Amino acid sequence: TKILAYHVRDDEQPFIDEWATQHHVQVDSVPYELHDETVDQAKGYDGIDYKQRSVLSQRPDLYRKLHAFGIKQLAIRSVGIDSVNLEWAKQNQLKLTNVPSYSPPAVAELVLTQVMQLVRHIPQFNQRLSQNDYIVNGLRSRELSELTIGIIGVGRIGGTVAKIFHALGATVLGNDLLAPRDDLKGILTYTTKDSVYRQSDIVTVHVYFSEQNRHLIGEPQLNLMKQTAFLINDSRGPVVDTEALITALQQSQLAGAALDVVEHETNIFNLKFDKQTPEPLYNELKKLPNVLLTPHIGFFTDIAVENMVKQSLDDTLAIIEGRQSRHEIKSERT
Ligand code: COI
Repeated sequence: TKILAYHVRDDEQPFIDEWATQHHVQVDSVPYELHDETVDQAKGYDGIDYKQRSVLSQRPDLYRKLHAFGIKQLAIRSVGIDSVNLEWAKQNQLKLTNVPSYSPPAVAELVLTQVMQLVRHIPQFNQRLSQNDYIVNGLRSRELSELTIGIIGVGRIGGTVAKIFHALGATVLGNDLLAPRDDLKGILTYTTKDSVYRQSDIVTVHVYFSEQNRHLIGEPQLNLMKQTAFLINDSRGPVVDTEALITALQQSQLAGAALDVVEHETNIFNLKFDKQTPEPLYNELKKLPNVLLTPHIGFFTDIAVENMVKQSLDDTLAIIEGRQSRHEIKSERT
């Protein structure tokens, strides 16, 4: 059995090697993404494992080719599935899997980090310090026991965020399409989206990306939020209307934001540029003193990366061998 893994970073390789040795399977790695230009590399392999922020292809040909090569599956080495076209995969009998729960704490702990930095005005203090200014005036902060955090999307990650903030004394509100979870009784109060926006001091969003969720948080939602509130987005860039957010921040309609993902991040994910970032939205956001930017690091912990690699390879092998995977994706996630 031979598996090809696309877009492998150096830090993933030891986990791939460990898994390959344990399962007596050959796994070859390539550093580039799976696209029309690189799909031919898949010929001769039994299974494919990939992770990337950009979409595989705008055309069905890539999926047809994989089918023609005799490939039966695509294992996505991430929770997000917005890189793949479900319809074209289905038409070409490619079973899709993702890694839905590689480490909810990896993302939830990033949220905690961002919230504490915003609440304690760390970006503004850093800016003052860079000017040799050690004056604290105007930047007194509140404590978590005074604050309400609102979670849009109470799934595995959102639920973990709820538990962390409840344990630290915050009031936790949430909204989800699915029925209230029993394990969050006494931890999180479910309410409408609008009242999450209205009542929260911090809004954090943990939804899958789908067209329905494009600009889920835009001008109307930002208008509902308190002027003293912070917005956190560690899900997918297009879930937030970035231009509307920039305007709200510039006009002090919002106190600040932390963004691990931003619209068009697919063009800069894990890349380095000699000159300016070729994404105007990033350059605008960098000018704002109350915005914390990170380059999509929510997943980037030792536990998460090990699980992404090993679970996606488990799924690849299961489908190659005609077994079921409990991670099979049958329809769009919202
Ligand atoms: C995900 O798991 O969906 C991520 O955003 C991680 C990234 C490496 C694609």
